Order: sequence, then structure tokens, then C-alpha cells
Amino acid sequence: MRRLLVTSALPYINGHIHLGYLVEAIQTDIWVRFQKLRGHEVRYFCADDTHGTATMLRARDENRGEEELIAEMGAAHQTDLSGFNISFDHYSHTNTEANRAYCHEIWQALVDADLVATEEIEQLYDAEKGMFLADRMVRGGCPFCKAPDQPGDNCSKCGETYSPADLIDPVSTLSGTKPETRKAKHLFVRIEQLHGFLSEWTQSGTLPPESANYLANFFLNKPLRDWDVSRPAPYFGFEIPGHPENYWYVWFDAPIGYMAATREWCDAHGGDFDSWWRGGKAEIHHFIGKDIQYFHTLFWPAMLKTAGFNLPEKVHIHGFLTVGGEKMSKSKGTFIRAATYLRHLDPAALRYYYASRLSSKVEDIDLNLDDFVAKVNTDLVGKVVNLASRSAKFVAESGLSAVYPDDGGLFAEAAAQGQAIAEAYEAGDYSRATRMIIDLADKANPFVEQNAPWELRKDPANAQRLQDVCTIALNLFRQLAVYLKPVLPDLADKTDALFGIPIDSWAAATTPLVDIPVNPFKHMMARINPADVQAMIEDSKAESAAAQPPPEISALKWNDGDEWLASEPLAEEITIDDFLQTDLRVARVVAAEEVPEARKLVHLTLSLGGAETRNVFAGIKSAYDPADLVGRLVVVVANLAPRQMKFGVSQGMVIAAGPGGKDIFLLSPDSGAQPGQRVH
Ligand code: MSP
Ligand code: ZN
Repeated sequence: MRRLLVTSALPYINGHIHLGYLVEAIQTDIWVRFQKLRGHEVRYFCADDTHGTATMLRARDENRGEEELIAEMGAAHQTDLSGFNISFDHYSHTNTEANRAYCHEIWQALVDADLVATEEIEQLYDAEKGMFLADRMVRGGCPFCKAPDQPGDNCSKCGETYSPADLIDPVSTLSGTKPETRKAKHLFVRIEQLHGFLSEWTQSGTLPPESANYLANFFLNKPLRDWDVSRPAPYFGFEIPGHPENYWYVWFDAPIGYMAATREWCDAHGGDFDSWWRGGKAEIHHFIGKDIQYFHTLFWPAMLKTAGFNLPEKVHIHGFLTVGGEKMSKSKGTFIRAATYLRHLDPAALRYYYASRLSSKVEDIDLNLDDFVAKVNTDLVGKVVNLASRSAKFVAESGLSAVYPDDGGLFAEAAAQGQAIAEAYEAGDYSRATRMIIDLADKANPFVEQNAPWELRKDPANAQRLQDVCTIALNLFRQLAVYLKPVLPDLADKTDALFGIPIDSWAAATTPLVDIPVNPFKHMMARINPADVQAMIEDSKAESAAAQPPPEISALKWNDGDEWLASEPLAEEITIDDFLQTDLRVARVVAAEEVPEARKLVHLTLSLGGAETRNVFAGIKSAYDPADLVGRLVVVVANLAPRQMKFGVSQGMVIAAGPGGKDIFLLSPDSGAQPGQRVH
């Protein structure tokens, strides 16, 4: 028995689970279920990746703490993933004390090994936002291959990693402005010191050959650049011991989350953490996408090695999902959330379709929606479920034959295929596995066609033959259900219910069931109606449109507080006529004098054009020097009843905002306005 610790990459807390992430989750889950069915001890861990500037900004925008955001989005992630039958043993998040503890431990090991260096570097700073910019908040040209519009950490075209300050023509994604460079202290891991180890480890069969070659050619044939693992405040993350106001970069603590999730599971179930992460017997398998290879194949093993933890046995690397041959697109409705899919379609259909497209190669996989409908309807409903639905009802009373009848070798042949199918699953070559399984279905179906139980049942003299034919058909069906169980756990459950005997191991496909009752056949899987696929696309389009207000109408990005509205709630509604009773006019200040006897007042002479003037006593002395006011335009309430004051008659009121004191802000019309013009 093997002991397998399996992980999927940790989805970012900021977004919802979508069909792209499900490529990874479904792929991992199939492997986990396969290994469990083979009798191995398997634990499947995952978590939400919570740290970083994006989380901090969103929490700030939504006026709540990061913890609340993590709880809410985390719950949505788990609902979505369990909707697709992803069978985690534990799902955590990275902002936990367990994670902090392992971060400290690994960090200390790096420090002790003299791998940490401090350097003052130039970092991009958004002056409008008042903060240093996270790598992903800057876009610009790749400094290596010159591809335009790349994120600040690594290039999606050539895969190089770099610092955002190296980008060509960088732009802040927060404000759209060109960032400045400012100096800041950063901590670096000198990963080049592990060059020898990494060259060997990455070429030792732990990675798909494409990835190993890619690393050898692009990274390991030159010195590895130091890895910048700290970020100055403000940042949402764990503070680095001994370096107040500096935090570990999210990619430092994220993979450590795999360990923290293990620890939490062990604490809850009496497990032994070290038996998984330290010492010989367990295999660690990471499933990741090709975009995050560098982190998992260079930095992560370097950290584990230095701190004396087990290294991954294998890093399984997949490509990206395309829909209809193109990148997922919000406007086309092909950026589909897990929850949206689940409102319209059966999760089993997507699990099967992805399985039928996934190979052990690092290549993109395409969700072609027509092909999706055709494959599920033809293969699963037409060839697999049909075997059972066309025969189960004829043995509802008799049960299965007492002895397994002669089937011309079909069952034995399918049993013999078990090993090859298992090898395909083991290698992650699910498309080969499903092809072999459907080939078996293609052999079983002609048997049912030729023996036509629906004809046999018409003549009672054929009762024995009918029972035998159905016994064969149902056993051939059950073999397929066993082989498909990693992909279609629900179908396996329904098969268990039909025979009253659970499929609890791969070996269930080697011995036919005989001499048992058969329960009433219950619906197992419906054909996909293409209209439901269309409805899902339309829904996705609408959601994407709703979820994305154009940035210029998002008031929140300006960080304007709500204290003013709170301190003075809006007045009661009025009509336009009510408003027009107030005659607001543009006026020019032609004279301004202090009123020596009054602490607050300035005596203004306002011109409304021509010879028309107004005397106004305005309480603005605390904020304005009278000399600065002469010549400027203001807005005045021109039809206010004159009021006798101690120092003279006030014939109007100038309009200003603010609470008073130094904070008084006169309104000025934009340039071009002329004294006497009405304001409305
Ligand atoms: N938070 C990091 C991973 C940290 S692991 C210690 C991250 N998160 S992610 O949400 O962007 O991606 C999570 C995983 O989903 C990655 O392995 C990524 O490759 C995969 N996918 C995200 N979008 C995908 C597609 N469109 N298609 C296939 N896989 C995709 O990276
Ligand atoms: Zn590039």
C-alpha cells in the first residue's frame, strides 16, 4: 500500500471557482479517487490562497476585514467544489496559525543556511494610491521577450520571471497612472546556492519531460536570480520575524499552506504530520497549472530541501482550458463560473468530458461545447448507462442468474483490460483510460443488440435466456462503472444501489455478480439538452456584465469616506421648482476686507456684472486671507432677503463646503463662467 498526499494548487480567495480551475480540481480528484479505489492510503488537501495586496484592497473597498472576506469567499469555494464532487480530506486557507508556524520554521531554516540577504531595491509606487504596487498590479512589456501587456511577476509568453520594475512602460492597474520608483528594503532568498540540487531534482523524473526540459533550457543553464520574498507595509500577510513592517510575499506562504492543511487534518484526526512530510514513506503529489511551475519546481523544493522536509514525488502539470479553441472570455460568456454551470448542467458531464480530454502532456485542453454534448450523450448515456437501462428491468423479479453464463469472453476480456486502464489513470492519461473504457462499451453493446432482451421477454419459453442475457449485460455495465468510478462517483453510487453491493475496490471488475436480486432501475444520467448549454452561456454573459462595472463608475476606488453623509444625512426630497426658487449666480469678488471686530467674518463686495454689486459678510476668515480672494469667482445666493448685521447689511450668501475652521472650501465655477450667469 502506498501513502499518497495529494494537493491541487490553492485558488486565490479573490475570485470565484470557474471551469478553468475545475480542470485542475477534477483532474486531481480523479487521481485521488482512483488511488483510493486501488486501496492506497490517500489524503487530498487544498486551501484558499488568501494573502496579498489584492485581498487587502478588496477588503478595504468593501469596508470590512480580510477575515470576513476569506470566510465568505471560502464558503463559496467549498460549495462550488463539492458541487463537482471534489473529495478533499481537508480544505483550509492560508491565513491560519498553523501556516504562520510553518512559515516561521522554514524561514528560520533559510536564515540559518545563510540563504537570506537584505537589499535595498527600487520598487514601483503608485503615488495616487499611496502604496507600493504588488507585482500583479503593474503591467507592461516583458523585459525578456518584449511581449506587451504582461503582469509584473512573470511573462505569460516566454515564462521568464522578473521584477515589475524591469517592465517596459509600466502602468499601475490601480490608478492607470505611470508608477514612480521608490527605494524599499526587501529580503531575498539566494536560491542560486541550491542550483546543483535543483538541476538534479528537476531532472530526476519528478516533472513531465516537457517541463523538465524547459527548466533545463531556460533557467538552469544560467545562475538563478535571487528570489524577492518580502513586501513592505501596507500588505496583508504574515509579518517577517525581526523585520517589522515587512511581510512575506504571498508566494512564500502559499505552498506552505499544503503543510498547514496537513497539520490541521492530523490534529483533527489523530494523524502524524511527520509521517507525511518528514521521513521516508509518503509520496507527495502536487497538481498544478503550467503558469505556476516556477514556484513549485524551483522555489518550493528549495524551501523544503533547506528545512529538511520531504520533497514532492511528482509535480503533475497541466495546460490551460480554452473554450471553443479560445481563451475564456467574459464578453462571450465562456468565462463560466462553477456555480453557473451547476445551475444548468450535471457535474458528472463535465467530469467525464475533462477526463476524455486530459493527457499526461502539458498541453491546453479545449472545451468544445458541441463535442461536449455529443460525447456525453453518445458515450455515457448512449453506450454506458444504456446497457443497464435496457436490461435491468427484465431481471427485477428473477435477479441475476445463479451461474455466470457464457458471454463469448466479453467479461474476461474487460477484466483483463483493468491493468492497462489503471496504468493510464496512474499516468494521468485519462483520455486513454476513457477511450479504453468506451471501447469495452462498444463491445458490450452489440451483444445486447443481438440478443435483444426486449424480444426475448415476449416468450416465456425464453425466461432462462432472458435472465442470462441480462446478467451478462448488467455485469458488463458494472465493470464499466468500476473503471469509471474515479471520474463518475455518482454513477458508481447508483450502480451500488442497483445491485445492493458496493464497488469498493478496483478488483470489483474481476468477478461477475451472480445469484443476487436486482433492485428497481432508477434513472442514472440524463442526456444533455443543448438548450441548457446555451442558457448557461447567456447566464455567464449576463453575470460577467453585472459583476464588472466599468472602473470609472466604481466610486469606491477613490477611497472616499462616508463620514460626511453620516454626520449630515440627505435632506428631504424637493421639486425642481423648489430648487429654482433659489437664485444662484456667478459673482466676482471685487473687494475683500477683514472685519476687525468680528473673529470670523470677511466683508466681500461681489460684482454680478455691470454695476450690480452685493455686500456680503461671509464667515470664512479662518480659511481665507481676504487679499487672496480679490478677483476670483464664487457662487452666491443672490435672492436672499437682506439681513441687518452688527457691521452692516448682508445681501446674499457665498456657497462653500466643509465643516468650518481651516476646512472651508469656496465653490468656484470652471473657467469661462461669467459674473451674473445663473447656476442651475
Ligand atoms: N494561488 C495560486 C496558487 C498557489 S499554490 C501554492 C494561483 N491561484 S489561481 O487561482 O490563479 O490558480 C490556481 C490553479 O488553477 C493553478 O494551478 C492554475 O494553473 C489553475 N488554473 C487557473 N485558471 C486555469 C485555466 N483557465 N485552465 C486551467 N487551469 C487553470 O495560481
Ligand atoms: Zn516574455
